[in-house]
Amino acid sequence: MSMIKIRLNGKEISRYVDDNMLLVEFLREELRLTGTHVGCDTSQCGACTVHLNGKAVKACTTLAASLDGTEITTIEGIAGDELHPMQQSFNDHHGLQCGFCTPGMIMAGIDMVERYKAQGKTLDSASIRRELEGNICRCTGYHNIVNAIDDAAKKMNASSENS
Ligand code: FES
Ligand code: FES
Repeated sequence: MSMIKIRLNGKEISRYVDDNMLLVEFLREELRLTGTHVGCDTSQCGACTVHLNGKAVKACTTLAASLDGTEITTIEGIAGDELHPMQQSFNDHHGLQCGFCTPGMIMAGIDMVERYKAQGKTLDSASIRRELEGNICRCTGYHNIVNAIDDAAKKMNASSENS
């Protein structure tokens, strides 16, 4: 057992966790934050993607006990009074069907937009497809997902330039 103190979706929490407890188990079973999904448990599908200190990680291969002092953001933590631009864009571009992959796609999408912006690189359709290699969707054929991320990137980048 280890005690961890983390900032989760903007709130400080502390809990004892088993040393072999995965982050995805901690989120879903301990905290009932079930928006983070489990599709494979072997780091293949990306359905469990969350942000650890602002970077996308797979919660099915991250130990909760290793997270003391970190900041975690899940799909439940990204909207304010309105949907996050990435969520809105998935809605606008029909970037989902069953929705199982969607939380992971959205968290991966936000990460890639922010990372490319920080590195001064252009996120185009080809790079979005390349970046999504760790996120699997069985329904959509990816086209609308790529369009959703592309459009959200334009809006996120425009709003950060205006702020
Ligand atoms: S459940 Fe984590 S990558 Fe599939
Ligand atoms: S929308 Fe069904 S798996 Fe992606």
